[in-house]
Amino acid sequence: MSEFHCSPVSLFASFTVCQKVVRMWGKRRDMTVRDRLPFNAEPPASVLAGGELTALDAFYCRNHGPFPDITREQWRLTVDGMVQKPLTLTYEGLTSQFTPHSVVATLACAGNRRAELLEVRPIPGKDPWAHGAISTAEWRGVRLADVLGAAGVDLDEDLHVAFSAPDVAQEASPVQSYGSSIPLSKAMSQEVLLAWEMNSEPLPRVHGGPVRVVVPGYIGARSVKWVTTITVQAVPSENYFQALDYRILPPDGNPDTAPPGEGISLSSLAVNCDILVPGDDAEIPAGPLTIRGYAIAGDGRGIGRVDVSLDEGCTWRQADLEPAISRWAWRRWSLTAQAQPGPLSLTARAWDDTGVTQPESPASLWNPRGYGNNAWAHVKVVVRQPAWL
Ligand code: MTE
Repeated sequence: MSEFHCSPVSLFASFTVCQKVVRMWGKRRDMTVRDRLPFNAEPPASVLAGGELTALDAFYCRNHGPFPDITREQWRLTVDGMVQKPLTLTYEGLTSQFTPHSVVATLACAGNRRAELLEVRPIPGKDPWAHGAISTAEWRGVRLADVLGAAGVDLDEDLHVAFSAPDVAQEASPVQSYGSSIPLSKAMSQEVLLAWEMNSEPLPRVHGGPVRVVVPGYIGARSVKWVTTITVQAVPSENYFQALDYRILPPDGNPDTAPPGEGISLSSLAVNCDILVPGDDAEIPAGPLTIRGYAIAGDGRGIGRVDVSLDEGCTWRQADLEPAISRWAWRRWSLTAQAQPGPLSLTARAWDDTGVTQPESPASLWNPRGYGNNAWAHVKVVVRQPAWL
């Protein structure tokens, strides 16, 4: 994946192109564009702090290829493989033959917070996602379990459900369309949807419209957009993005030569949190400072506590947690403290309700593809004495 760098000479021209791209895809002007094609962009952290649900124009975008342009009329979904009655569904059939359900779920890219891993060691060719490759929406669609049930899937077997989409990823080796899989046990759980609505709007093309998979509690890569084929099979998908990418290689592993299946395949999210306000390097006035962020537990677990430190983790105070909006969504938190003039380092860590907490440093997590950074959250700010004092 190429990074979109703006050289000082071409800064204005690049800025203008970025503005056109974000507008073209219905996104806010202040999104940070990581790549123009495929389009990859994240909102400012402060925008994510603005609400429980992320507005559509701020929701991060993560793509490995150009977006397919499929109308609802053209769209077909094939369900095949180890099922008794293979199905082909139209959009009309999917939306009318099964009971619709809504789930509020956070989608988090496995590369979110990679920028902190890059400070440990370089990760060539990977985007430096900051705080924003994570967003929350209310998704509406039908349960994948209901569709698999209609196709007659055998629940007793230790099977996998593979998803395929038509967008072609040039970065894959060999070049191929996007795909992924989840275990059948997860596919049959109530929260996994084939979604056609996002925050009560038709699912935008950038986010997989007309229909995408939403796998709450798993890394975003498993929520396949523009899904057209669902195959029940005995083994995980052999697609590049399941068998080679989105895996944690050992620190001395080589992503260019690692064979399919090497490393740990990412599925459930690990407990994580981040500080969204104040932002990195912000200058803030001395006095009461409200620190805001989110915490998210892994696959369906709850957040037990969030701690905040103003002295690099020597002492901690408990943040106030907002009520949980969904078992599958982030939980917002805040803490108000007195900020004294000078440089100030803010740290946060979350605990899930089974007592699991985050590792302290990104160095302990560094991996050659830069995935799964759930180290303590850090933001450095400068506190200024008000001018009238
Ligand atoms: N599905 C397809 N077909 N193609 C993709 O490139 N990217 C995946 C996933 N589904 C992808 C995809 C990744 S890596 C993530 S993090 C999420 O989509 C991002 O979803 P979003 O762009 O709607 O935020």
